[in-house]
Amino acid sequence: MYNEKVIKEFSDPQNVGELKNPNGVGTVGNASCGDIMKLFLRIENDIIVDVSFKTFGCAAAIATASTATRLIKGVTIEDALKVTNQHVVDELGGLPSQKLHCSVLAHEAIVAAIEDYKNNKINDK
Ligand code: FES
Repeated sequence: MYNEKVIKEFSDPQNVGELKNPNGVGTVGNASCGDIMKLFLRIENDIIVDVSFKTFGCAAAIATASTATRLIKGVTIEDALKVTNQHVVDELGGLPSQKLHCSVLAHEAIVAAIEDYKNNKINDK
């Protein structure tokens, strides 16, 4: 069902766990299956210097979250917001159609965590 790239990413996911000092955290749920994704960002000068995730999700959710975190580490928040679930799916060489909804979690968590960062920044002023 999954291609080799997805299995590899799922078997050895990157950036798993909870950051010690995040300044942007996003938690989102998947309406289709009820699974949850939590993303932690450490942002300095609008650049994502560190990122991690935790999920109660399936293999596709883990593989896409791991890929998404690799893609956004070291980039500006503006560029991170341009990383769509389609980019992540393409990077993984595709997902079975019934698992495409799982890839939405990582993207939505990135958006939510950046939103949280922006809100924290406003509240700090
Ligand atoms: Fe829920 Fe994949 S089945 S995230």
